[in-house]
Amino acid sequence: PRLISIDLSGLSVTPTSTPKPLTPHNELVFGRTFTDHMLSIEWTTQDGWHPPRITPYQNLSLDPATCVFHYAFECFEGMKAYKDKSGDVRLFRPDKNMARMNRSSARIALPTFDSEAMIRLIGQFVKMEERFIPSERGYSLYIRPTMIGTQRTLGVGPPGSALLYVIASPVGPYYPTGFKAISLEATTYAVRAWPGGVGNAKLGANYAPCIVPQMQAATRGLHQNLWIFEEVDQKTGEKLDYLTEVGTMNLFVAIKHQDGTKELVTAPLDGTILEGVTRDSVLALARERLEPQGWQVNERRCTMQEVSAAAAEGRLMEVFGAGTAAVVSPVRAISWRDRMIPCGLADNEEAGPVARQMKDWIEGIQYGDEEHSWSVRI
Ligand code: COI
Repeated sequence: PRLISIDLSGLSVTPTSTPKPLTPHNELVFGRTFTDHMLSIEWTTQDGWHPPRITPYQNLSLDPATCVFHYAFECFEGMKAYKDKSGDVRLFRPDKNMARMNRSSARIALPTFDSEAMIRLIGQFVKMEERFIPSERGYSLYIRPTMIGTQRTLGVGPPGSALLYVIASPVGPYYPTGFKAISLEATTYAVRAWPGGVGNAKLGANYAPCIVPQMQAATRGLHQNLWIFEEVDQKTGEKLDYLTEVGTMNLFVAIKHQDGTKELVTAPLDGTILEGVTRDSVLALARERLEPQGWQVNERRCTMQEVSAAAAEGRLMEVFGAGTAAVVSPVRAISWRDRMIPCGLADNEEAGPVARQMKDWIEGIQYGDEEHSWSVRI
């Protein structure tokens, strides 16, 4: 797809005549209430990006033959706006989300766009919805940029038209009562992503197939799937269970090695891993602030065999997920091939020190308590 610029000066704004009442912040359920407006930009092969529009939040009207319904021409982003202590509104690393959205859309033959222009438009949209951003710590406005193919055709081909739209939902902390460590099923009977696939793109089509395995894990009392990629070692013939992601998040493991070195590990970006913004933030902060304390920080492949051996020898320090929705999500135990692997937490403990530290650092930047180039005032 060609990169065609979005005309910022053409923006039209139609304010709602029926502003919604605000939901009390303690009653917010993730992704259930939305703000007054939405931002939309249509695209056609012929004319490129049409002038952007901010309108009242409203239903879409689409022909039943629209290609998004049949062949899943859809990609999305998840990002948040925060209110800081002086009442200013901030976005967290929006450039990362827009760059990823362009990669996702290009992968499914949807158009790309000018990230900078889109960040400015999202900024204007979020400013209009400012009253929906709770100022309490842990609360924010979840922003959902979405792109769909809108061509009316059952022919399988590149969509000749698309719609890029942005909606926003006020959200509370993922764990309202503080951290809650979760238990995982190391899932091998279903595979989230594979080499040459699209696991690195934020496509709606990557999410729907994960729900049935998650329901199956739940019947066994486990909260989330730990997505395993199984591979046979060419030399030994042994089956190796590589850790990839957890639920909809990236995964981090802290291991102490036999020589006493501490290592923070996450899977490398080999095409099967979503390039998480929180993942990147955890890595950058760990390199900047944990490495000087003697930690090693590595993007490398890691197996359940290694994690299980470390746990057996008391060297598994902690395991946690990292994502926009929860920031970090600590793991208590992993069910793996009929064994329960404890992940380093004491019975009365809900998070390890690295997960706690990361949550504090990242939230400190998101809410502007620590000035940082990642946090963009709008
Ligand atoms: C995340 O932020 O962890 C997600 O990807 C969740 C989102 C799909 C609701």
